[in-house]
Amino acid sequence: MNQELLFSNSRIKNRQLACIECGTVLDVGSFKPLDPIFCPNCKTEMVVPAKLGIYDLYRFLGEGAMGRVYLARDPVLKRDVAVKLLREDLNATPKMWTLLENEAKAAAAITHNNVIHIYTMGKVLGRPYIIMEVADFASLDDILEDEGTIDEALAIQISIDVMKGLRAAYKNELIHGDIKPANILITHKGRAKVADFGLARFLKHGQQVERWGTPYYIAPEKSEQISEDFRSDLYSLGGTLFHAIAGHAPFEGETGEEVISKSLKQTTPQLKKICPDISGEFSELVFKMMQRNPDDRFWSYDQAITCFEKLQEGSYVLGSCKKLKMGKNAKRRKTKSLMQKISSLVMDHD
Ligand SMILES: Nc1ncnc2c1ncn2[C@@H]1O[C@H](COP(=O)(O)OP(=O)(O)O)[C@@H](O)[C@H]1O
Ligand SMILES: [Mg+2]
Repeated sequence: MNQELLFSNSRIKNRQLACIECGTVLDVGSFKPLDPIFCPNCKTEMVVPAKLGIYDLYRFLGEGAMGRVYLARDPVLKRDVAVKLLREDLNATPKMWTLLENEAKAAAAITHNNVIHIYTMGKVLGRPYIIMEVADFASLDDILEDEGTIDEALAIQISIDVMKGLRAAYKNELIHGDIKPANILITHKGRAKVADFGLARFLKHGQQVERWGTPYYIAPEKSEQISEDFRSDLYSLGGTLFHAIAGHAPFEGETGEEVISKSLKQTTPQLKKICPDISGEFSELVFKMMQRNPDDRFWSYDQAITCFEKLQEGSYVLGSCKKLKMGKNAKRRKTKSLMQKISSLVMDHD
């Protein structure tokens, strides 16, 4: 990106910048755009502001394997947005562009309160970016890093919110593929939103399992490359909830391979045994989500959400999730995809 474009940010006057919290004036003459900068007075962490199109980027929000995300101001609509820029160290190859485009399209296909909305995407001086809704508190990963764990009530709310977001995605035949604490964003009101559809797959496009996210929460059938469906996301959410309550991932190891090998060989751990203070009911629901065989997990998001909602209102009966049977919707969806397979075979044959 070119310096002139970035330094044309209206927050910088004569290479001086006012702290966004306390107004202390800082000299940013020797800094590059988007360099981290700390206010010596109130210790607020900022970045040297930069301008991307109409947006004023002014605070670092987080980063992942693909992108760095900044808080930015939309001066026209007078609201904050989040801007994900492909990391500078990753060359913006056509493959990277396709990945980001895939992410933006996948998330943009969903309109739901528990999924981060995508506003637009583009390229600035060869570097792709996505403009999206901001989750104004932190990622679950940030919270776990600061606090170690969260309480059961928040974990239940997060479960319900994330599953509602994932259910909306699944209605578009989309599975997320990388549910983990860093991809669950929390708002100030304590509600969760699903972010980062970078590894998402549209089932109707018949995309194959080809890339993995982090090994800690990956479903066994996915690491073995056997199959993948919405229940793999349920497993990853179970692993995430386990981590959020226990303070560590369900299976740990020195290397990714070791973690995956444990998840394939060892029995599913029970939260209640590690954290005796949590309810047996919550432990049971997380245990069901994390069953090694996908058929032993919930059959639908509706079932799982109902169980967690009952738990939230205090009417969940211990043991009832073990008796769940496949619902009508799950059956219909299975039949439909079988029909699709048959008709594509017929067409291939022709
Ligand atoms: N819309 C957003 N609002 C607030 N913070 C965000 C937002 N999107 C991402 N972040 C922060 O940036 C981090 C990386 O974003 P993510 O989309 O997961 O990037 P990557 O594709 O590189 O993993 C997240 O873990 C979170 O901390
Ligand atoms: Mg991510």
